[in-house]
Amino acid sequence: MTPSQKNALIVGASRGLGLGLVEIFLTRGWRVTATQRTPSPDLARLKADALRIETADIDDDASVAALHDRLASERFDLIFVVAGVATQAHDPLHAVPRDVAAQVYLTNAVSPIRFAETFLDRLAPGGSLALMSSILGSVSLNEAGGWETYRASKAALNTLARSFEIRHRADSVSVLVLHPGWVRTEMGGEGADIDVATSVTGLADVITARLGEPGAQYLDYRGKTLPW
Ligand SMILES: NC(=O)c1ccc[n+]([C@@H]2O[C@H](COP(=O)([O-])OP(=O)(O)OC[C@H]3O[C@@H](n4cnc5c(N)ncnc54)[C@H](OP(=O)(O)O)[C@@H]3O)[C@@H](O)[C@H]2O)c1
Repeated sequence: MTPSQKNALIVGASRGLGLGLVEIFLTRGWRVTATQRTPSPDLARLKADALRIETADIDDDASVAALHDRLASERFDLIFVVAGVATQAHDPLHAVPRDVAAQVYLTNAVSPIRFAETFLDRLAPGGSLALMSSILGSVSLNEAGGWETYRASKAALNTLARSFEIRHRADSVSVLVLHPGWVRTEMGGEGADIDVATSVTGLADVITARLGEPGAQYLDYRGKTLPW
């Protein structure tokens, strides 16, 4: 690693946006540690010297603690928790079993913040913690309804991200809460607005421009500030 080379940890990189983020940061000369839950053929295919592949499930505290130990010698300019689920997103809240709704909340809101708390000591000075939210997490922009369980989980993530930043304000922590656009992935579906390359190019530009900026910013992939 050269002294000026930036170092990223991308969590939830087996496919979709996480995989695309790994590719764009490698292309831009960063070192990248990418995590998968189970072996990802798409990630394995990247085969770059600057890529390290690790395994972790953000819902499993022991798995996250083991990853934290394995990465003890690393300091990251960017720690980006991308992982998320949209289980039964099209069903109204009352039609979603309680345990399913609770799991969406745990994976999308609780686990990313717990991951951030565990890994804060691995963030390099001048670095940023990024969390993959969604415009659906904006309470004030919710004028169309729908995606109720998912929407609530991302609103919870946004609230918890702000509380995390306040809790660590004395350390000037930088928290980027990001909306990737509506993207053609397994989650976004084939009818989504933009492809993965467009989204991750924009996200990488936004992250690079805002890296290390103290406070919690809620931004889309074009750099536009979103209302909470
Ligand atoms: N696509 C969109 O239009 C859109 C819009 C707004 C926000 N987002 C957000 O962007 C993020 C990525 O979405 P995507 O579209 O790329 O979805 P995706 O193709 O469904 O990928 C989801 C990723 O999250 C990983 N993951 C899920 N649960 C995990 C866990 N417990 N531990 C570790 N990894 C886990 C998956 O790993 P496995 O392969 O092991 O399942 C996969 O890598 C999500 O947070 C999503 O909410 C997406």
